[in-house]
Amino acid sequence: MRIPEELAELGKKRIEPYPVEGFVYGSGPEHPKLMLVGEAPGETEIGNGIPFSGRAGKELMKFLAMAGVGREEVYITSAVRSRPYKWGEKRGPEGAAVKRKYNRAPTSREILAHAPLLDYEIEHVKAPIIVTLGNIGLKRLVGNDKKVSDLHGELLVQPVLQLKEEQFEWTEKHYRIFPTFHPASIFYNRRLLELIHEDMEKLRLLRRDFSMYD
Ligand code: URA
Repeated sequence: MRIPEELAELGKKRIEPYPVEGFVYGSGPEHPKLMLVGEAPGETEIGNGIPFSGRAGKELMKFLAMAGVGREEVYITSAVRSRPYKWGEKRGPEGAAVKRKYNRAPTSREILAHAPLLDYEIEHVKAPIIVTLGNIGLKRLVGNDKKVSDLHGELLVQPVLQLKEEQFEWTEKHYRIFPTFHPASIFYNRRLLELIHEDMEKLRLLRRDFSMYD
């Protein structure tokens, strides 16, 4: 499944005012076993156009294997489809300061700019379960007051937030949302690895119950 080109163009235009670069399409089958909603692509992804193909992606594939699914069976997307960056300095080989771009979390304006793209994917990709990876994807779908540390590993059955005339509103339809941590979180907090492993085991069992497209 690929979003229509006009929608991708609209997304690129809406995000133009902000410090982001590149554009990565969501990717995966129309009837996937899961839909994964991440945060935003990083440097690797904007280089090759493949979501979760960098360091975090390697961890994600191991987690998916624990839940019993492979990359080609899931639809992978994110709240923002361009790489949000900030400038920073790094010491070069001769000790001179070299300016370079660093990843940063997307802002609420950037998330709003790409909201129509994710809304379209949620509506058209018929996934039995939507897995949010980290706080950005979770809050985008179920509200800013929610936290991954409180909700991870629990199946939520509820409406999701959708952009209507530049305001987020709840859908009438209910979706199955399974929040877990972002795979990159283990680089900063190794203890989360155990919690993610437990979540993947729960997801494996849930998939068995809701595997209408298997
Ligand atoms: N994090 C995301 O949310 N998406 C990617 O593609 C890579 C890292």
